Amino acid sequence: MDRTPVWFMRQAGRYLKEYRELRVKYSLLELCRNPELATEVTLQPLRRFDLDAAIIFADILLPLPGIGVDFEFAAGEGPKIHRPLRSPSQIASLAVGEPEDSLRFVLEAIGMVRRELPRQVALIGFAGAPFTLASYMIEGGYSRSFLRTKKMMYLHPNSWRVLMEILVEVTVRYLKAQIAAGAQAVQLFDSWVGALGADDYRQYAMPYSSMIFESLKDQSVPTIHFSTGTAGYLELLKEAGGTVQSVDWRIPIHLAWERVGTDTAIQGNLEPIALMAPPDVLERKVLDILKQVDGRPGHIFNLGHGFLPQTPVESVSAIVECVHEYSHS
Ligand code: CP3
Repeated sequence: MDRTPVWFMRQAGRYLKEYRELRVKYSLLELCRNPELATEVTLQPLRRFDLDAAIIFADILLPLPGIGVDFEFAAGEGPKIHRPLRSPSQIASLAVGEPEDSLRFVLEAIGMVRRELPRQVALIGFAGAPFTLASYMIEGGYSRSFLRTKKMMYLHPNSWRVLMEILVEVTVRYLKAQIAAGAQAVQLFDSWVGALGADDYRQYAMPYSSMIFESLKDQSVPTIHFSTGTAGYLELLKEAGGTVQSVDWRIPIHLAWERVGTDTAIQGNLEPIALMAPPDVLERKVLDILKQVDGRPGHIFNLGHGFLPQTPVESVSAIVECVHEYSHS
């Protein structure tokens, strides 16, 4: 690859008119659970932009029902877990299940997308990291303070461990199945782990993320370790594993890269709301990242988190062109 690869988290989704049109007819879960529709949505951004990777259209919460935790996406409110895990006895009743069967629709979609994608475009599979998944299962939805999650960790450490170990096993099996189905890289989303301080990360989250990366070492595909708000302990994220560390905009990318070590590839780290800034401001921010990286191989251009629904499509094209042009010269 003689140019910096670029793709975006949430590159499929509501900022695209063609996605919103499908969402009039189908719920988010219907789109995810139907391999033809999931394939169509995965490919939508690729038709518009010269992206270097596709990410399979799915959601980190899809494995939950197979473990025994049902949920829905409530309109405008995000995910709602029907019976959040509030007691050790609820955790004791969970089971690993058969992720290869209960998530077959994702694996089928991966096979279909792979057949349609040009060879040079990589297909990325993904799963949620144990801490982030547990936070949804315990809080019942998104949380600002993660009060219940942290109380479970501190007050019921054994139940926490049981829950995390179930999530590790499900995630390893699910990601291995995605790779077997055709995913050429997998990303582990630990979106909310930055809510933990370094010591708690080391004790309550890191061992489980490490187990996942360790189990994927023999898989011969790159693994991307995504987190936000973790600039305080990037070294630990690196130690937990991943071929690529994905960092957010709260730290300049060259400093992040020094911290994780230049033997590791890096992904990031544009501020998602910069896409709503005037074109010159956006371009300056994109160029700042590329200048900080300074042509060092191993940079994947991305956002520090996902697109918001308000993202203008012109900004997306502008970034892709800017990254490719700059890094080609
Ligand atoms: O294009 C892609 O990035 C692939 C598809 C994808 C979705 N979810 C589809 C989706 C991916 C990679 C995810 C990951 C995901 N899901 C994460 C980790 C990444 C992150 O953003 O931190 C998380 C935390 C979730 C859980 C989730 N799903 C939330 C909190 C929400 C509601 C918030 C929101 O943006 O509305 C969802 C819904 C969801 N998942 C949408 C999409 C496209 C929203 C669109 C819709 O309702 O149609």
